[in-house]
Amino acid sequence: MNTGDSYDLLATTVLLLDRDGIVVRVNSAAQDLFGRSRRHLEGQMAIALFDPDPPLAQSFLHACEGTLESCRQVALVPKGSNSSEVSVTTVSLLGHEGWAALVEVADLESRLVVDRTQRLAQAIAGQHELLRNLAHEVKNPLGGLRGAAQLLEAELPDDRLKEYTGVIISEADRLQVLVDRLTTPQASPMQLSLMNIHEVCERVCALVQAEFKTVEIIRDYDASMPEFSADSARLVQALLNVVRNAAQVMQEEPPHDGPHIVVKTRIARQVMLQHRQHRSAAVITVIDNGPGVPTDLKDKIFHPLVTGRSGGTGLGLSLAQDLLAQHGGLLEFESRAGHTEFRLMLPLELT
Ligand SMILES: Nc1ncnc2c1ncn2[C@@H]1O[C@H](COP(=O)(O)OP(=O)(O)OP(=O)(O)O)[C@@H](O)[C@H]1O
Ligand SMILES: [Mg+2]
Repeated sequence: MNTGDSYDLLATTVLLLDRDGIVVRVNSAAQDLFGRSRRHLEGQMAIALFDPDPPLAQSFLHACEGTLESCRQVALVPKGSNSSEVSVTTVSLLGHEGWAALVEVADLESRLVVDRTQRLAQAIAGQHELLRNLAHEVKNPLGGLRGAAQLLEAELPDDRLKEYTGVIISEADRLQVLVDRLTTPQASPMQLSLMNIHEVCERVCALVQAEFKTVEIIRDYDASMPEFSADSARLVQALLNVVRNAAQVMQEEPPHDGPHIVVKTRIARQVMLQHRQHRSAAVITVIDNGPGVPTDLKDKIFHPLVTGRSGGTGLGLSLAQDLLAQHGGLLEFESRAGHTEFRLMLPLELT
């Protein structure tokens, strides 16, 4: 593997410049960051890839001439009608390799999001552990309580009093459902097998379509997605929790142009998941045109028992996050009114 190829393994963007400040080589990450293909990046003046920035232009010039050793700056990269903030490190290579300068560009915004999501996933795993232990402790006394209420009910002389034992029994049943949901993911060991992610998507689409007849489900699958090793039952559960949420929210507040859910699969390159850099990841994106995640829930949506629905237990997303974490993956989201995206990301080591 030569130096040029090994740059492709990096998550940060690398541009190699000649003496005139022209990009002669870019790595794979550069194509994602600048939203252009390698062909459209190579041959350009490096400075033209950024928003106008005289100090940055000076650094490129001096590094290519060999009069500046290295320098780090914050700059802007045009993204559609906006710009995104990046950190740019310019290093002079004169005398080292065949190139004049190396420019390393790291997307500050997306890195912050990933770091935050990762920290959140860890915090949630901790909370879940605590809740599972608690649920386990509640399970046995709950059974005893229900049994005793049943015995008492049989002995009661007055039927009117049975109303009270009825309340105890039905509330115990409600708690039992909660306790079962909290303890389930741990119940069975992971069952990994080579599976097709589109079969998982199809299972979930069929289940949700049967429950929510008016929602239009649109499939947008990447046919080049390889099979990979995972616990398909767990993935069905995780995806179902996400897609059902979208359908439930849109049933309560139907969008004017009719409820749509898009289930999209793609392969992403150079993704950081659970502190590990992966060359590629399978991404299942669930997009709905509903009202969006309520602002006050945005920071805590993955925490257990956080719900915005009257009948909700607030476990669906935290369980989904947990199930993905068991695969070394991650669940993240972005939401505004009319467009909510949940992304299930799973490491995919192509062989
Ligand atoms: N696609 C979405 N659009 C808008 N809000 C959403 C969406 N998905 C989730 N939410 C909000 O996040 C909350 C938490 O979701 P979560 O699945 O964890 O719990 P729940 O659906 O309330 O209950 P449960 O899944 O345990 O039955 C939901 O109650 C809802 O308010
Ligand atoms: Mg839910």
